[in-house]
Amino acid sequence: MALQAANHILELKDVNFRYPDGTLGLDRCSLQIRRGSRTTVLGANGAGKTTLFLQMNGILRPHSGTVSYGGATLDYSRQDLHNLRSRVGLVFQNPDNQLFSATVREDVSFGPLNLGLDVETIRIRVEEALLSVGMVECADKPVHNLSYGQKKRACIAGVLAMRPEVLILDEPMAGLDIAMQSDLIQILNRLHTDGMTIIIATHDIDFTYGWADEVAVLQSGTLLAHGAPTKILLLEEVRKELGAAPLVAEISRALALTGIGVYDNDCMPRTGAGLVQALLSQSRQENDR
Ligand SMILES: Nc1ncnc2c1ncn2[C@@H]1O[C@H](COP(=O)(O)OP(=O)(O)O)[C@@H](O)[C@H]1O
Ligand SMILES: [Mg+2]
Repeated sequence: MALQAANHILELKDVNFRYPDGTLGLDRCSLQIRRGSRTTVLGANGAGKTTLFLQMNGILRPHSGTVSYGGATLDYSRQDLHNLRSRVGLVFQNPDNQLFSATVREDVSFGPLNLGLDVETIRIRVEEALLSVGMVECADKPVHNLSYGQKKRACIAGVLAMRPEVLILDEPMAGLDIAMQSDLIQILNRLHTDGMTIIIATHDIDFTYGWADEVAVLQSGTLLAHGAPTKILLLEEVRKELGAAPLVAEISRALALTGIGVYDNDCMPRTGAGLVQALLSQSRQENDR
């Protein structure tokens, strides 16, 4: 029992939630997030991804069902929420909904200030957070002068300054160019290597296939499927719901039909680069024969 609690850092059980206008946000939604995982949440617009995240850091409260952190069910007391929000950091989809201070440094300091830390500790945390997203040079810039990508990084720094155990990002790639996307992925990979649990909402099936170790698929506020992307994204009902399967998996399957197996030691390629590698090493083996 204790082991199970330690293994799942966040857990929703049968969560029901309706917005004040009566719209269903979540419908008996149950989901466990494994500690240390790289989880993506997929689902059509309106499937409930943002609502799920707002439940995970206590901004919204279930009408029925429970949300637990580290095995303890939230009771939504001031203390409980304070504790939760220092451990679960949420980066909103729109940076303008998150940034509100005059300068980047002030904004990034806001969270640690709220935690009641001393001045020196705050200074160290803010510098570290700015450094890890490459925003040291922009520290004293007015927030409203930042580019979209810089705003996004300032938001992430603000959350990192809280030193959360779980980092949740709501559609973080939207609006970023390719170079900025790969910068962001590098930042997230570093944080993950340092032990952080990362949860991302995205529409990118190929990114999920290559990057995530777990994927949760939402459909009309409920969990349709959850598990390893190599398994879940190939399920017929998931493919139907998302409208596509990972391109690498489709190409690998078509190649297999034409007699070219790209399974490398029983391991399927999960990225375009991995598939190219597998094909090249096959052709080298053919040539050696
Ligand atoms: N503030 C709100 N008031 C009323 N309905 C909302 C509100 N926010 C979201 N919804 C509705 O809740 C459902 C889930 O939305 P959301 O969690 O934003 O989905 P997603 O992030 O997957 O696009 C949708 O039907 C959406 O229209
Ligand atoms: Mg959303």
